[in-house]
Amino acid sequence: MSQKVRELYELFPYPLRDPQQEKDRLLMPPLDTLSRVNHYCFGGAKDFDDSFRALVAGGGTGDSMIWLAEQLRDVGGSVTYLEPSSASTKVARARAEARGLSNVSFVNQTISEFAKSKPEAFDYINCAGVLHHLEDPEEGLRDLTSVLKADGAMGIMVYGEHGRLAVTEWRKMIEPLLEGKDLPQQLEMTRTLLSALPEDNMLLKMGGCPGFIKGLLENDPEIVDLLLHPVECAYDVHGVYRFASSAELHVAAFTGFFGFGGTGKAHYNIENLVRDPALLRELAAKPLCDQQAFCERFSGAMPLHAFYLTREDKGQTTEVLPDAELAPYFFVPPNKTFFDDLVALAGQPVLIEDGSGNAVDLTGGPDLARLLAVFDGKNTVAQIVAILRDEILDTQPIDMNSIAVNTLGAVWALFHKFDWMLAAKPDGWQKVDGERTLRVRKV
Ligand SMILES: C[S@@+](CC[C@H](N)C(=O)[O-])C[C@H]1O[C@@H](n2cnc3c(N)ncnc32)[C@H](O)[C@@H]1O
Repeated sequence: MSQKVRELYELFPYPLRDPQQEKDRLLMPPLDTLSRVNHYCFGGAKDFDDSFRALVAGGGTGDSMIWLAEQLRDVGGSVTYLEPSSASTKVARARAEARGLSNVSFVNQTISEFAKSKPEAFDYINCAGVLHHLEDPEEGLRDLTSVLKADGAMGIMVYGEHGRLAVTEWRKMIEPLLEGKDLPQQLEMTRTLLSALPEDNMLLKMGGCPGFIKGLLENDPEIVDLLLHPVECAYDVHGVYRFASSAELHVAAFTGFFGFGGTGKAHYNIENLVRDPALLRELAAKPLCDQQAFCERFSGAMPLHAFYLTREDKGQTTEVLPDAELAPYFFVPPNKTFFDDLVALAGQPVLIEDGSGNAVDLTGGPDLARLLAVFDGKNTVAQIVAILRDEILDTQPIDMNSIAVNTLGAVWALFHKFDWMLAAKPDGWQKVDGERTLRVRKV
């Protein structure tokens, strides 16, 4: 770890957090939501019990550590928080104390120092916003892999090359002005530039909302991390795949990350971006990584990539049905009137929304309501196919089983698109999203 990077995080622990706020709210980084990790990395079959060990590498001021420790506290799972910056660790420790978390151990080391100490291996490793700041990110990933269990998984976030062009350009612009200034002076200069930004500056577009620059100006660690970091690199989609293979790992799924919203896995799916049927067919014939790479440049909205890595190739089977013995469940639960609303709006176009900008359109009706009610986290895929075939679809002298499978596949694809539904063992880890519910809206 270079001296400059070390000093940066001692001066500006990242992200800016006040331990007092733990009384009022729990931040839940979506990358580390264990229902998601279970679905994408462990085939829905992981037992999260007191043997479960999570590592948060480069834990900063503690967001991922807190969220993982909160989810694991009742089952006795543990979290190791690894962070070389004492100033960051101080904030993270105070947050854990404010929550009364006793399942966290704190290690004041770099990734490579920690890997050399040969600790007991981990089931899940979070490393978000760290590897792209290492002199040798591939070495960092290999070090992390060396402390991952054989069937373990990682949740990684790195900068996205294309969506971050505004920052690259900004850095080229200020480079000649940085010389001879220490970090606080560089910050002061950057604040001056940001407070009078021309309206066509690319940073404004990247920020995505009118309050972006105002928010930045209230958050020095964010300015420093975003615009003044001495060591950083970025990856495009193909770069992410190359990065994974450099440590003999596979991309199990791209996923979402908070802060720069809108980088959820739906953005990596050509079907959500390309309208023209002929082009869509042409693109669909390409390898998945090429489709995702197309999405990155076509959408232009991926300043970062968040993804899961596993040793075994899980084939990114995101849109096909889960295994027959798994139980699909609503990770984002329907609100109280959801099923009644669907019935009341029979035959009419409706939007299903989760309150965070994600929506799918459907036609309402009692059959859809009956089918969705069967996704209770107990019925397995095999059982739902049988219910659909025998009780919901009309009996006709054709292969009802394949119609049932196809119907279920279509419903699953719609509800899995934004992770509204995930799948796990019927008696497995099926903790739902505590922040959102699904509602039906007439169009
Ligand atoms: C941008 S912050 C991200 C913090 C946290 N992961 C998050 O997402 O909120 C990067 C963190 O990585 C830490 N870091 C930098 N180099 C490291 C290394 N070689 N080993 C472990 N941590 C490192 C820094 O001290 C800093 O806290």
